[in-house]
Amino acid sequence: MVACIDAALAAQNAALAAESMDLGICYIGGIRNNLPEVSAILNIPHRVIPLFALVVGYPKNRSDKKPRLPLSNIYHENGYQEDKQEFIGQLEGYNETISSYYELRTKGKRKDTWTGQMAGMLGKKSRLYMKDYVEKQGLKKH
Ligand SMILES: Cc1cc2nc3c(=O)[nH]c(=O)nc-3n(C[C@H](O)[C@H](O)[C@H](O)COP(=O)(O)O)c2cc1C
Repeated sequence: MVACIDAALAAQNAALAAESMDLGICYIGGIRNNLPEVSAILNIPHRVIPLFALVVGYPKNRSDKKPRLPLSNIYHENGYQEDKQEFIGQLEGYNETISSYYELRTKGKRKDTWTGQMAGMLGKKSRLYMKDYVEKQGLKKH
């Protein structure tokens, strides 16, 4: 877990540095769809696991900033504060915001909400090969 956190911190610093130089970035967690193939292409050694890719380049277009979840949903000071009703209300508000953002960006094609997306993602099993892969890479704790 510490290694994953370190890698994410390093990547985010690289992302900030790139953006400060007018470059654009995109994290690609999609590489975890097929880590055996990615590992072969990248010559990944034993006991190493790719977590995500970070693509860097000069963007053709500058897209609008994606609307964020309300800060009070994700940021807590000196302890976790959760008023469930308030939380649900805020998520409903965010669903409307993000839905309009997607509609605008896709000229009406995409009609998702955030909660719909999360329910879809968490409601199905995915990347079932992962446990095997992690063990094969030699990271199984006995
Ligand atoms: C860990 C992580 C993995 C991601 N994986 C992908 C991916 O595989 N494909 C993709 O198009 N975007 C990927 N993204 C980008 C997100 O889809 C989304 O566009 C981005 O987080 C929004 O960034 P922004 O709000 O700064 O514009 C990933 C983002 C993160 C943080």
